[in-house]
Amino acid sequence: MTEKNEVAILDFGSQYTHLIARRVRELGVISHIYPNDVSASKLKNTKGIILSGGPRSLVRDPRLEIDKKIFELGLPILGLCYGHQLLADFFGGKVESGQAREYGLANLKVSDAPIFEGVKKNSQVWMSHGDHVSKLPKGFTQIAGSNSESIAAMYNAEKKFYGFQFHPEVAHSQEGKKMLNNFIFNICNLKKNWDTASMMMEIDNEIFKQADNKNVFLLVSGGVDSAVCFALLEKVLGKKRVYGLHIDSGTMRLDETKKISEALHKLGFKNLHVYNAEKEFLAALKNISEPEQKRKIIGNLFLDITDRIMKEKKMSGDNWLLGQGTIYPDTIESGGTKNADVIKTHHNRVPRVQQMIADGKIIEPLKELYKDEVRKIGLKLGLPASIVMRHPFPGPGLAIRCLCSDGSDELASEIALNIMKLPVKSVGVQGDERSYSNPAVLLNNKQSWTKLRAISPAITNTHKEVNRVLLTVLGDEKNLGKSKLTKAYLTKDRLELLRKIDAIVDEAILADKKCNKIWQCPTVMIPFGFKNKESIVLRPVESEEAMTVSFAQIPENTLNKIIKKIKALNAVDYIFYDLTNKPPGTIEWE
Ligand code: XMP
Repeated sequence: MTEKNEVAILDFGSQYTHLIARRVRELGVISHIYPNDVSASKLKNTKGIILSGGPRSLVRDPRLEIDKKIFELGLPILGLCYGHQLLADFFGGKVESGQAREYGLANLKVSDAPIFEGVKKNSQVWMSHGDHVSKLPKGFTQIAGSNSESIAAMYNAEKKFYGFQFHPEVAHSQEGKKMLNNFIFNICNLKKNWDTASMMMEIDNEIFKQADNKNVFLLVSGGVDSAVCFALLEKVLGKKRVYGLHIDSGTMRLDETKKISEALHKLGFKNLHVYNAEKEFLAALKNISEPEQKRKIIGNLFLDITDRIMKEKKMSGDNWLLGQGTIYPDTIESGGTKNADVIKTHHNRVPRVQQMIADGKIIEPLKELYKDEVRKIGLKLGLPASIVMRHPFPGPGLAIRCLCSDGSDELASEIALNIMKLPVKSVGVQGDERSYSNPAVLLNNKQSWTKLRAISPAITNTHKEVNRVLLTVLGDEKNLGKSKLTKAYLTKDRLELLRKIDAIVDEAILADKKCNKIWQCPTVMIPFGFKNKESIVLRPVESEEAMTVSFAQIPENTLNKIIKKIKALNAVDYIFYDLTNKPPGTIEWE
């Protein structure tokens, strides 16, 4: 009999379930994700179990199914967030909703326990929860606390059951990897059995098997993912079997289509073609303001155009697959697993694509990976850093950064001393759930960056009605009260203004070496103000793989340059600086 060698992750719908699997693999151990209600008899190769988080509330909703026999297997168990609360609830503790909501950074203080061996007594962790464990279950001891009154970690020494309210799997939890390392090697007694070379081999084999004798019609936005996907497909299938199409939606950055096609041609991707669809996209998005509706129209239009071109070129039918550079965050944020909430529908995950996947008509070699893993593969394949290390840019382009409104009379309103709520709304992710709410603006603010890092989560944790925090860096705060959200849709003129401002921001950030840590900096336009009736939001972020993010600092002289250049356009009333981590805010606003 082969030795048990894997960690089983039971999925309760968390945005981070897959990230847990990735972290386990990074530590060199095989891991598999199972549905939350998997039968204990199926976990034959398992030496340890992790219960994921999820968007459900044990206070509001019935407990999600788990096979009771799982708790009798004699295996170590680690429950994270919802999984922690489920352990508490199952063994007679208490879970409550209350004031202890925590989104983003929190300070953790741990006491002695095997899972914290070698872990710093005080460290920062990432939280994302509305409910919390308020009373320990029988047989459990509290082993960590945070700034709130909730039980941040607990364990049952005899059974080797652990519960963490925080997320050790996300890059922002400083000691998280060490805790997972302790769980896997010291508590579950697993041995290393997996590495990156096996991952690359698996991908090649999968392409070979899935494509069989079919060709691939690949959609190429020109970003990191689609370029690496192009290179991988060409490597395994040969250049002739991969037809690349770049659809210019009219919502690309300044001269982006031209730059991309030239760069890829130079690199030898000769089978790349460009199709201009600006008019079609603008017509389809006319008078649309709801973000999810926008996203679905964009995703569907990409498919309509693809269908048409494939038919014209006689490339449809059983001999062709549609290729996409989808990566894992696209899937999970689009509600890609049984219990997961839809945070936002990524353009490559609209329902029609889901159907095509079910029908076996789509090939997506990178769909299990995160951006940083894709970059590593890209570099290994010999693609230059100028392509592989580019800032990510979303498929729907500037369309989802140019906010629209059907015209509301709402004004900005004060919610606390020196804090104002803006009438505009944006998407966030809180406790694994989608939120769509207003940002708060800090007024008269003279705080240091260190203080701002603490103030921002404190505001979103205590004001349920806001999911972002902004700072005014241009514009008269006295006029905020009479500024309005005005009726505005996606038009060529608005896109052109945003494109110009986006180029100013991008150029300044790429020119400043001190901005190297900035992972991405979306420039968002909102139809808000009192004179020009447009405002800008700068959204610089630091991240490893886009699942958790902290807002980044643009050095003062570069920020001033940006502000000066935008001001000179005389076209916007305010520039806001987004001070929101993820959670509670997503990177993009729509
Ligand atoms: P969020 O806003 O969800 O973004 O925190 C995570 C990362 O994904 C990018 N993004 C997209 N990429 N199609 C894409 O190809 C999409 O529909 C899409 N929406 C967001 C975003 O720019 C960030 O890098």
